[in-house]
Amino acid sequence: MRIAVLRDYQSLSERAAALVSARIGKKPTAVLGLATGSTPLGLYRELVKAAQRGLVDFSGVTTFNLDEYYPIERESLQSYYYYMQQHFWGPLGICPGRAHIPDGRAGDIAGVCSDYEQKIMDAGGIDLQILGIGVNGHIGFNEPGAALSAKTHLASLSAETIAANSRFFEDRDAVPRRAISMGLGTIMKAREILLLASGSEKARAIGETVRGKLTTKVPASLLQAHPRVTVMVDRAAACCLR
Ligand code: GLP
Repeated sequence: MRIAVLRDYQSLSERAAALVSARIGKKPTAVLGLATGSTPLGLYRELVKAAQRGLVDFSGVTTFNLDEYYPIERESLQSYYYYMQQHFWGPLGICPGRAHIPDGRAGDIAGVCSDYEQKIMDAGGIDLQILGIGVNGHIGFNEPGAALSAKTHLASLSAETIAANSRFFEDRDAVPRRAISMGLGTIMKAREILLLASGSEKARAIGETVRGKLTTKVPASLLQAHPRVTVMVDRAAACCLR
């Protein structure tokens, strides 16, 4: 794993945007895996700015999001579909056929999950997967446990994640208990991974991910087995790395 410690959230966002832009510069038809949550917002803002200045061109890029709540309507302000539309796909004008996210309204969940895996394969696989991390070390919605799912699946949110994500909802009861998420195998198949974390509440999870033993109890620690991972953190999130 390569570790980059940046001064603050803005520097982290700029450095991450520079990395993503460089990869698209090399491969204009790159396939990106995308995350939601607060952490990548700065990255998306910087990428939109760079695209508007003509420094990066997203017209050939295809994207696959990590996860979506289930059940949820696309128009819901808390859906990841809505988030992506607001912060990334919309401002960049990414054509809908190139922007993928699991369907949180689906009846046939097994069908949605296997189609999603197939679409990723048909696109040639993910070149660069962007990840955030939960306070308990989850990635996507792959929560700590005895075993982790390999493929896209219906996941149950842990109490910790429901509590953390309740800030986006009216209250804790309004947070969906389930989500459709890429599995650890889907994530590990990406050719390159960029994990972002900011703030002291992520420090323990980052410490365990980078320095801890590889365990399903800290899903992100499995990234130690991936050949090309960059962990980009601000100083606050890096405090357990010294
Ligand atoms: C959610 C998402 C994850 C994200 C995590 C951290 O649970 N499923 O993909 O990484 O939250 O979010 P934040 O960046 O808001 O702390």
